[in-house]
Amino acid sequence: MMKAVTQYKYGGVDKLYLEDADKPIIKDDEILIEVFAANVSSGDMKINTLDIHVLLRPMIRLVFGLFGPRKKIRGISGAGRVIKVGSRVTKYKKGDRVNYINSMNAGCIAEYISLKEKSVMATFNENIDDVNAAPIAFGAMTALHFINESTVKTGDKILIYGASGSVGTYAVQLAKYYGAHVTAVSSKINHKILKSIGADDVIDYQTEDIRKNNQSYDLIFDAVMKISKKQIKTILTKNGTFLSVKSMTKELSTRIEYLNALLSDQKLTTVLDHVYELSEFKEAFVHVYSKHKVGNVVIKVK
Ligand SMILES: NC(=O)c1ccc[n+]([C@@H]2O[C@H](COP(=O)([O-])OP(=O)(O)OC[C@H]3O[C@@H](n4cnc5c(N)ncnc54)[C@H](OP(=O)(O)O)[C@@H]3O)[C@@H](O)[C@H]2O)c1
Repeated sequence: MMKAVTQYKYGGVDKLYLEDADKPIIKDDEILIEVFAANVSSGDMKINTLDIHVLLRPMIRLVFGLFGPRKKIRGISGAGRVIKVGSRVTKYKKGDRVNYINSMNAGCIAEYISLKEKSVMATFNENIDDVNAAPIAFGAMTALHFINESTVKTGDKILIYGASGSVGTYAVQLAKYYGAHVTAVSSKINHKILKSIGADDVIDYQTEDIRKNNQSYDLIFDAVMKISKKQIKTILTKNGTFLSVKSMTKELSTRIEYLNALLSDQKLTTVLDHVYELSEFKEAFVHVYSKHKVGNVVIKVK
């Protein structure tokens, strides 16, 4: 048996439990992972609480379960160590440290998880802590979809709206890594941390209007789904681009590999708001459901 965080009906934190569950038995093409850290993200919130536009809820119910999540063990991303591999597995071996995203089948907030070898997953180096690796396949992989070598040129002026969340804090760092001048938009309390991860300028969205500082940007990235192109088109340069997390992203193991290398080389860091023990799982979810976490919230499973 193992400990796992479970949910049977959609809803708030009161619908989550810490229970005993069967330890997974792996198939030939699967690996068994001892979980060390589980990320609790806005993605978990969206699925668990149906916190999406009312017209999209039927689609979520169809995909994830009618009255509650079909996969009772919750948690869509995390990190741990491979302790057993199936007979047909070639890509991973016992002892490998891995981080992954498993949105459809979930199961990441548990002491063990089995994943198919072809899952969206990658290995990471010994110099990376599990807690820092756990959010990579969620926030950093999303940020990389929008902020990458093909969207950012050295010297570009980029504005990141909602820079203090998981996607936002990774996006700020990636934009700096590709040589941009970064303006980060968040509430004032988060400006210090955003400057510490590389933001050149900061704007407080609660007291300032981003359209009124006489600046224009080559790229505006909305990392929290709070602005539209129509609202900001006057502050885009002539060939400027507007990107939003509203768009679908691609989940690729190669992207996690790339991000893990940046993390290992200290070109990227995971901003941690709070790390909770497994017994504090409710506090972790309350924190994430507040929609005002800074960077990431992680549960230390072991
Ligand atoms: N397209 C995809 O595949 C994909 C993948 C992952 C995530 N997403 C979406 O991306 C969004 C961000 O995800 P996340 O995990 O980064 O969220 P998150 O970490 O929960 O975001 C929290 C941050 O949002 C900021 N915020 C809240 N209201 C704001 C507002 N009105 N204006 C500016 N900032 C505001 C807060 O900053 P303050 O405390 O400073 O207000 C807080 O730091 C979510 O909507 C998520 O669903 C999309």
